[in-house]
Amino acid sequence: MRRLTPAALAITGAVALAGCGGSGSSAPELAVSSAYMPQPVTGEMAAGFLKIANKGGTKDELTSVTSSAAGSVTVHETVGQSMREVSSLDVPAHGQLVFKSGGNHLMFEKLKGKPEQGTKVTVELHFAKSRPITIEMPVKSATYNPATGH
Ligand code: CU
Repeated sequence: MRRLTPAALAITGAVALAGCGGSGSSAPELAVSSAYMPQPVTGEMAAGFLKIANKGGTKDELTSVTSSAAGSVTVHETVGQSMREVSSLDVPAHGQLVFKSGGNHLMFEKLKGKPEQGTKVTVELHFAKSRPITIEMPVKSATYNPATGH
């Protein structure tokens, strides 16, 4: 374990971060902002948006999302006029991953109740390298971001 390949570094880095929460100079340093969910029209599904900034010098990947409010949360990207589910999205080093109307978005399905404006939905973000980040995503008005299309 002395000479670490990048892949090995990623694995041991995740373990180290889970253990102590420290961050070396080359590790991803993630921060979430601007999270919100437009109040859905029905209790069937909802969209979610946020920004994940990475101040670190190593890229990370958002690999999965879970929520206590939904049985299923998937990550979608928009290509041209259509959207598709993806298994992960990069959070580039010294950059950010942006979810916004008309672009990347989270899709909450199998909702356990209709999210109401003014409440918050707990969302846990899972990454390839960093520890999971739990956020409280505020539910905004349905028209807060009108261009989701679903
Ligand atoms: Cu979608």
